[in-house]
Amino acid sequence: MKYHFDDSGATALNNLISNLKPSSIFVLTDDNTQKYCLPVLSTLTNFKFTNVNIKAGDKFKNLDTLSFVWQELMDYGADRKSLMINLGGGVITDIGGFAAATFKRGIKFVHIPTTLLGMVDAAIGGKNGVNFTGQKNQIGTIVPPEMLWIYPAFLKTLPPGEFDSGFAEMLKHGLITDVAYWNDLIRYYSAKDNGRLNSLIKKSVEIKDAIITKDPKEQNIRKLLNFGHTLGHGIESYMNYQKKVPVSHGKAVAVGMILAAFLSHKINKMPISEVDKIKNVINGIYPKLVFESDDILEIIHLLRHDKKNIKGKVLFVLLHKTGKAACDFEVPEKFILEAFDYYNK
Ligand SMILES: NC(=O)c1ccc[n+]([C@@H]2O[C@H](COP(=O)([O-])OP(=O)(O)OC[C@H]3O[C@@H](n4cnc5c(N)ncnc54)[C@H](O)[C@@H]3O)[C@@H](O)[C@H]2O)c1
Repeated sequence: MKYHFDDSGATALNNLISNLKPSSIFVLTDDNTQKYCLPVLSTLTNFKFTNVNIKAGDKFKNLDTLSFVWQELMDYGADRKSLMINLGGGVITDIGGFAAATFKRGIKFVHIPTTLLGMVDAAIGGKNGVNFTGQKNQIGTIVPPEMLWIYPAFLKTLPPGEFDSGFAEMLKHGLITDVAYWNDLIRYYSAKDNGRLNSLIKKSVEIKDAIITKDPKEQNIRKLLNFGHTLGHGIESYMNYQKKVPVSHGKAVAVGMILAAFLSHKINKMPISEVDKIKNVINGIYPKLVFESDDILEIIHLLRHDKKNIKGKVLFVLLHKTGKAACDFEVPEKFILEAFDYYNK
């Protein structure tokens, strides 16, 4: 899909609005993006809008917040020609994309991601939705935005933990498609050479975009983007909603990638030296989580209810080697238990 990078996005957005001539414009924010990003957007663009604001955090990505957004659109007179601009991280683009895709059977919307995770992942590919009954992303659609504008300067106010959360998805892009990019990311992280960040963000956007362009409905290769997510989602849901220990999406995926790398060794004979490198790199960035045996059993239970399961089967994306992945591997439970043992050590 066509995306706009940096300052060029402001002109593109102003042009889009001149062409579409929406009857009204709504900008969806959360408490943080309202404070840090909305004033920046206002200085870069020149259209009038109504701000709809929700509380920050994945725990508010639910039906109550969705209803609130729909109600605000109704109360402020939105109609089928209204435009919605989603200014925020993955929570805002997920809930805002879903609210817009379903309001009056669908109004046009634009994504302006403000977190690293949003820029390299959540805002690309049209997936949107909300969590339901404490499980991640159970309700949603795949509808692409009218426009995607990546403006890395928003990252200046992003807390470091949130940056690392997005960085996990970039590492994933390297691990599944490109060993040279994976090594570039490791070098970038150890030197913290911020001058190179924009080009790395672009690379990740291109990797994800190339995959979803080939397979928008996740029939085949789009599944590769789930590397680390099968167990990662289980960990994220369990830690946040059952154990009540806050764990970000990125950190959960990072741990999921270590586990999936170990499973790649068991199933695909990926050399253990490569698995050890992945574990060391990831543990050097993300604080270790502690999993007791009860936690592991609960996470495995949640795995069975992942929305990606087909006919109740849990299928994994695994690596053959760093930079080369394949999907649809069934994994015996005993290997999953061994993978947690390997992580815990
Ligand atoms: N649709 C998809 O394809 C897809 C892919 C990956 C993740 N997701 C979803 O994305 C969500 C996670 O996204 P996220 O990590 O961006 O979380 P988020 O949207 O909750 O943002 C993280 C935190 O950063 C704050 N924030 C955002 N931009 C800021 C800025 N520029 N300065 C200061 N603070 C800022 C937010 O208010 C929030 O507190 C999850 O709900 C996940 O399920 C969706």
